[in-house]
Amino acid sequence: MSTEDRARWDATYTGIDVEPVVALPAVFGDVEDAFPRTGVALDIACGTGGAAVWLARRGLRVHAVDVSAVAIGRARRLAEQSAVPVDFGVVDLDAGLPPGEPVDVLLCNKFRDASLYGSMLARLKPGGLLAICVLSEVGAAPGRFRAVAGELRSAFGDLDVIADAEGGGQAWLVGRR
Ligand SMILES: C[S@@+](CC[C@H](N)C(=O)[O-])C[C@H]1O[C@@H](n2cnc3c(N)ncnc32)[C@H](O)[C@@H]1O
Repeated sequence: MSTEDRARWDATYTGIDVEPVVALPAVFGDVEDAFPRTGVALDIACGTGGAAVWLARRGLRVHAVDVSAVAIGRARRLAEQSAVPVDFGVVDLDAGLPPGEPVDVLLCNKFRDASLYGSMLARLKPGGLLAICVLSEVGAAPGRFRAVAGELRSAFGDLDVIADAEGGGQAWLVGRR
């Protein structure tokens, strides 16, 4: 990511004065029970850490990364306040997923880099859960940050898909390897 884009994300998070909320992203709410309570999770592009801390509270050992040092600073404070350990890191995903152990949960909410789809699949343990939500062209104007129709099914259809949908400018999928 360019220095300018990173600075833009930092400025966005510096300008937000509401505290992050510890929660599973609402889009995955109907399949909350599919998320395990033990094992290892990786949250990529975790922002201010609300979902990462939710996973840690649920019982998982969590790694979470984002390119914005400001977001990660906030996320670390949230984990401290919530009294759960989370291994947060400032990582530019343009260089690929950070090296790490196979995971039981891989969460990617509101971040899209189709070049990472293969490595996301490969990072899942057998039985591991992928939960991904991206902007979509379905129900919205085309744009370079948006998934084309059927993109998640095409990339992740080999998983045992628990639930998925696309429309209203958003596409999401939850599946088990
Ligand atoms: C729309 S926010 C979503 C944050 C969080 N997942 C959530 O659900 O609130 C997108 C996030 O992607 C991060 N991001 C964008 N490009 C990135 C990159 N190349 N590497 C790592 N993080 C990136 C941004 O810093 C931002 O936190």
